[in-house]
Amino acid sequence: MSVKFTWYGHASMGLKTGGYKLVIDPFFDGNPAASITAEQVQADFILLSHGHSDHVGDTISIAKRTGAPVITNHEIANWLEAQGIHAHGQHIGGGYKHPFGYLKLTQALHGSGLPDGSYGGNPAGFLLTAQTGEKVYLACDTGLFGDMRLIGEEGLDLAVLPIGDNYTMGPDDALRAVKLLTPKHVIPVHYGTWELIDQDPHAWAKRVEAETSAKTHVLKPGGSFSL
Ligand code: NI
Ligand code: MN
Repeated sequence: MSVKFTWYGHASMGLKTGGYKLVIDPFFDGNPAASITAEQVQADFILLSHGHSDHVGDTISIAKRTGAPVITNHEIANWLEAQGIHAHGQHIGGGYKHPFGYLKLTQALHGSGLPDGSYGGNPAGFLLTAQTGEKVYLACDTGLFGDMRLIGEEGLDLAVLPIGDNYTMGPDDALRAVKLLTPKHVIPVHYGTWELIDQDPHAWAKRVEAETSAKTHVLKPGGSFSL
């Protein structure tokens, strides 16, 4: 196993690869679906997809406690640096060879305003190529877009997609996303946290497996899947 994915509930995620612990969109305290508290999180790197409060979450407290740098877009990186947090800014389409692997920011159709009203740049997803070659795409908060086909051309081992609807893709568009991305494995997130984004992930998984060759893994908060 060289990449271990963990879903902490809502869009809080973890990746363990190359001996490094990554936490993505670390929203724990105040997250009704969170499987652990912010205080329990261990991290070597924090990835932040956009500025909304259900993603920025506990970024600052975890970064301060662990010393983990935050990888995010340029605007949010500047916002964090101004608060004394070590950040690495990238932008859409740009990749960088970090110690844990090559990480590229991908486009996302969404907003990115920060909790204090500051401008948060453009929202992003993440495409990670692990040192051992596995490719993991975290769509993060986004609507469906046709260029998911280009991301799929990279050859995805795992795609993690929102299915909650209302703020992001719902189940129908997430199924279309799987068809464009053609990943080997797919995991649904960003649902069930609040009534507004309640979905039946098992019903969605059945449709995905009936209509695509992707294998779907429905996790419970705290659950993991390893490549
Ligand atoms: Ni959002
Ligand atoms: Mn969100």
